[in-house]
Amino acid sequence: MKDKKIKKDLLSLKDYSKEEIIKILDMAEEIKSEPGNYSDILKGRNIALLFDKPSTRTRVSFEVGINQLGGHCLVLDSKNLQLGRGETYADTAKIFDAYLDAVIIRTFMQETVETIAENCSIPVINALTDKYHPCQILADMQTLIEKNLLFKKNLKFVYFGDPNNVSNSLLVGFTKLGVDITICCPKSLKTDEFLMEFLKKESAISKNNICIENEPTKAAFGADVIYTDVWISMGQEEQKEKIEMMMPYQVNSDLLKNARPDVAIMHCLPAHRGMEITSEVLDSDNSIVWEQAENRLHAQKGLLKFLFDRQDDSK
Ligand code: CP
Repeated sequence: MKDKKIKKDLLSLKDYSKEEIIKILDMAEEIKSEPGNYSDILKGRNIALLFDKPSTRTRVSFEVGINQLGGHCLVLDSKNLQLGRGETYADTAKIFDAYLDAVIIRTFMQETVETIAENCSIPVINALTDKYHPCQILADMQTLIEKNLLFKKNLKFVYFGDPNNVSNSLLVGFTKLGVDITICCPKSLKTDEFLMEFLKKESAISKNNICIENEPTKAAFGADVIYTDVWISMGQEEQKEKIEMMMPYQVNSDLLKNARPDVAIMHCLPAHRGMEITSEVLDSDNSIVWEQAENRLHAQKGLLKFLFDRQDDSK
């Protein structure tokens, strides 16, 4: 077992300071603009991607990004590991620790990534759980910086739809950076109360405003950025009755009449066209979703450099 003291994970941005998040984003932009200077920074490093759920962007962007940085990537499917036959995540983590330099995992419970992190000394990256999706939010913040929006005075950023792992992570990331955020969702859907308690304390320090709004027209009024995500997350497919309740929160051209004419439209993808967002809006000139998706690659490269620099510095 390697030295436990040098471990540094990304399980949620809750554990990160504003300065650390900015450092990752600066690194991401630097690697994006000068990729040739970073083509061997992961040379000799073996990094595993473990998936308990499907993925397109996360899987491809991490695998390509690791290769572009000179590292070796193993893509693992838990069904084909002994995990599928009942070996525990804790025991699997000890094996990862012996062979690998980092592990990136997409799974259901946040506790699973925490268990893996507790049982190995190598960096562990959360590539989505039911609770958080921090890698997505790093790419979102990078995209908003490129558009000169993230630190715009009086920015109105509104997330429409289901309070989920993406909105949780947006709330955490924006609060850490002191950026205001509005969540617009039906009254019956609430953000996790423990997270809200955490955010209340953090907001008192970072001085951002968190607004929960139930009326879509009011929420969209004057918005600079409108963000949405699927209404039914992976693993929750039985919740089909939710769709009727969510329809008033659809991001469509009528809703956009209330926003600024240059409102930027974001979606972490995959999109369910005609459900949380119409094709007309997703494919419009206001949409920045494809740049947002591309930045998954760059933001994660910044993150990997940040984590390994930190580990190397602590040796
Ligand atoms: N946004 C996102 O995480 O996409 P995938 O599910 O395709 O990885």
